[in-house]
Amino acid sequence: MDMVREALHYQSRFSGSTMVFKIDFPVTQDPAFPSFMKDLAILAQTGFKVVIVPGAKEWIDSVLAEYGITSSYITQEPPEVSAGKATTVLRTPLRITAARAMPFVEMAAFHVATRFMTGLSANRTDSVIGNFVRARGLGVLNGTDMESTGRVETILTKPIRKVLDLGMVPVIPCIGWGPSGKPYNVPGDEIALAAAGALGAVKLFIVGLGPEIRKEPSPGDENALVLPEDAETGESGRLIRLTPQETERVLELNRHPLGAAAQAVSSLTLALAASRAGVERVHIIDGREEGAVLRELFSNLGSGTMVYADEYEAIRPLRTQDIPDVLRIMEPLMQQGILIRRSPEDISEKKDDYVVFGVDGRVHALGALHIWGDQGEIAAVTVDRVYADMGLGSRIVRFLINRAVKKHIRRVFILTTKTQDWFETLGFTESDTASLPGERRKLYDPQRKSKVFALELGPS
Ligand SMILES: CC(C)(COP(=O)(O)OP(=O)(O)OC[C@H]1O[C@@H](n2cnc3c(N)ncnc32)[C@H](O)[C@@H]1OP(=O)(O)O)[C@@H](O)C(=O)NCCC(=O)NCCS
Repeated sequence: MDMVREALHYQSRFSGSTMVFKIDFPVTQDPAFPSFMKDLAILAQTGFKVVIVPGAKEWIDSVLAEYGITSSYITQEPPEVSAGKATTVLRTPLRITAARAMPFVEMAAFHVATRFMTGLSANRTDSVIGNFVRARGLGVLNGTDMESTGRVETILTKPIRKVLDLGMVPVIPCIGWGPSGKPYNVPGDEIALAAAGALGAVKLFIVGLGPEIRKEPSPGDENALVLPEDAETGESGRLIRLTPQETERVLELNRHPLGAAAQAVSSLTLALAASRAGVERVHIIDGREEGAVLRELFSNLGSGTMVYADEYEAIRPLRTQDIPDVLRIMEPLMQQGILIRRSPEDISEKKDDYVVFGVDGRVHALGALHIWGDQGEIAAVTVDRVYADMGLGSRIVRFLINRAVKKHIRRVFILTTKTQDWFETLGFTESDTASLPGERRKLYDPQRKSKVFALELGPS
């Protein structure tokens, strides 16, 4: 039931917003592809504006090879790509597309785009493959003639929006057309970046067959990703979420990645560029994993790596509009007598004492620090049980202790009937009612038999 509530919350929050999916070609060849397309179709049918940018690199390589044309790449930095509000640079290998290769490149790019059209049709969702990209030739880059390789000049947002308004899915192949109608091969990553920026997408999904982004991307692969020591990782060592600054640090530590680490670096490069271009959240996910998109979208317990540019989660002061959510979490515990009963008015009266751990505008944990002279009472520490054992309770308590230190409080205490062991692990030791501030002692309810635990913060 909690998961359904969670999903409905996200559905109402993001429905109607635009999401760009950059999907690598190998995903289309995986047995999980039909199930992946089913999930995209469900999103499109339930009000999400889905835009697909198919990557076609591997398929273009194989088509060209079949016609005896060898693909070569340069690794120099291409010129700046303008995306949305920001101007940014993508440092990824660029194909040198010979003019004679272009008809085959077009054929391959459109073939890949139709795979998505087919996958959506199978789920009764219509799509439009279009010429949505105005391109410009790259010309000569550091002495190399890039021939038919182009860059994004403009994303034609008007026709894309029209298609979206008709409830259809725009599919943007990796071809752009110059002012005179000449076609250019434009890297899918650049198109995805520019489209996400220009359409004001709230999310960009980078979908590959990549292993998780973690220190050792593949078992036995000696080309491990170097991670900062304080990186927030999940149980398997997966990087769960990164700010743009943290992403930059990871990229700095991995300037010359090899093997699977190179793939992770390429996804993180695109993710960083997109978040710099104003996309609030970029999700790097594995297209093989059943339900990966839906999990990432409808729960806070996604399975990929998220680069987020907004205030995604934070411990912050309680706002009046949080009070119903706070009571929702507290109610079962108040009923069991674990927490003392508080009315909306009680909470509102002491609003400034409370802090919440909010994710996407929803409260997952809370706590309060009430000041009694030179002592502070930590109270109402509560974690939504869906998010138990994830360290949220400890984070709230540490936050309140810091707040007390800043206010020059000499000692913090708690009154508890069931959580003394937990507070002991946080450094609290047993004390007695005699140590309570006079005013607080008067309010002590002897029938509850709460124990007093305290932590000294400074010299008395
Ligand atoms: C107590 C509470 C705040 C802990 O929140 P949390 O975010 O799940 O806790 P953390 O993730 O920081 O810590 C989890 C650890 O504490 C342990 N723990 C949780 N509740 C405990 C309790 N009542 N007594 C002892 N240990 C407890 C967990 O088993 C876990 O141990 P592990 O790390 O060895 O697996 C939460 O369980 C809660 O809301 N309880 C009901 C309200 C309450 O009693 N509040 C305190 C009154 S002020």
